[in-house]
Amino acid sequence: MLRNPAQIGIVGAGFVADLYMRSLALYDGVRVVGVHDIDTDRLGQFCRYWKLQPFQSLDTLLETGRCDLILNLTNPGSHCEVTRRCLSSGVHVYSEKPLAMQLSDAINLHELAQEKNLLLGSAPCNFLSESAQIAWRTLRDFKIGRPRLVYAELDDGFVTQAPFNSWVSESAAPWPYQDEFEVGCTLEHAGYYLTWLVAMFGPVKRVAAASACLIEDKIGPNVETAPDFSVGILYFGNDVVARLTCSILATHDHRFRVIGDRGVMEVKDCWDNESPVVVNKRMAIRRRLIELPIGRRQKIAGPTHPKVSRRGAASMNFALGPVEMIDALREGRNPRVSADMALHINEVTLAIQDAVGGRAIDVKTTCPPIEPMPWASQP
Ligand SMILES: NC(=O)c1ccc[n+]([C@@H]2O[C@H](COP(=O)([O-])OP(=O)(O)OC[C@H]3O[C@@H](n4cnc5c(N)ncnc54)[C@H](O)[C@@H]3O)[C@@H](O)[C@H]2O)c1
Repeated sequence: MLRNPAQIGIVGAGFVADLYMRSLALYDGVRVVGVHDIDTDRLGQFCRYWKLQPFQSLDTLLETGRCDLILNLTNPGSHCEVTRRCLSSGVHVYSEKPLAMQLSDAINLHELAQEKNLLLGSAPCNFLSESAQIAWRTLRDFKIGRPRLVYAELDDGFVTQAPFNSWVSESAAPWPYQDEFEVGCTLEHAGYYLTWLVAMFGPVKRVAAASACLIEDKIGPNVETAPDFSVGILYFGNDVVARLTCSILATHDHRFRVIGDRGVMEVKDCWDNESPVVVNKRMAIRRRLIELPIGRRQKIAGPTHPKVSRRGAASMNFALGPVEMIDALREGRNPRVSADMALHINEVTLAIQDAVGGRAIDVKTTCPPIEPMPWASQP
């Protein structure tokens, strides 16, 4: 039986845990009852700031029997082990992404959750946001006709040159740049649009992808980092094709554009729950084909979900996923944030991340170097 308010345990009290705390505070139906982190200094700092009970080990937190749901907010390399221990002790889990770093581990977690009849969900949950749901509704209402092609961009600017040493969370956790660079922007970010795509167009059927590590010495010599650029071409069952780009080099661009038979739908940024959804209709005027320069903002009547104010790069309600799981448990229904979806997103993301060099052919033809035009070579 789920308690009211539902009782949440947090494992991993780092940078993102503060964002979860601000989001959870928007809901009366949930309460954080305990926190564990292997870093005891950080555990103390976090618990003092938020006035929460610290637990020195995961076992002592689990043994209290107080947690209805565990939020696994540890670093990606710890996700699998922490989730496995929580599921094994009979507690539902919502994990930060990715579910696991290896597909075989993600499959094992999926099986364990099924075996134990427990819910297992994974971030990102921004497909439950106002922007994503309005965008999806716009497609269902055929406002751009039949959707054909999607361009989804997750370019974050030239992050290695950003002053990331000074980025700290509300309760003073430093931004874990080393871990971010080792895990890579694809595993970290692709899900923010993959989840939208899967919600809107169904599961991905086929992936063609390429990734590359363009800046090798991000953390220093001899420290290997993950690809910092990737592009995946995703084929969906209903003939929709999407291009998903992730990088921490190209100029910041988080647009989501769906090209349909009658126009284009655009959302500026999936990291903003209230990012406007705009439709630009297409039409022929005399001999020209244009998409109307002034678009129509899409809205839905009535309230949507609680919002958090912007902090750093994002204004996202991180509690949408956990609260959806708790609501589903209360209502005895399947959650929108499911183990099947978490595993699927994990598989597709790894397929893109691991496509280093792409599925490439060695080109046989060549051509001589090209001289610039003389007028462009003047000093
Ligand atoms: N940093 C962000 O802006 C951000 C945003 C969204 C999602 N995320 C995701 O959140 C997760 C955590 O990221 P973060 O930025 O908070 O990292 P972080 O390094 O700041 O915090 C992670 C915390 O987990 C703890 N930890 C690691 N292994 C553990 C274990 N086995 N048991 C208990 N505690 C353990 C660490 O000591 C650390 O305090 C990652 O999956 C990341 O992808 C991060």
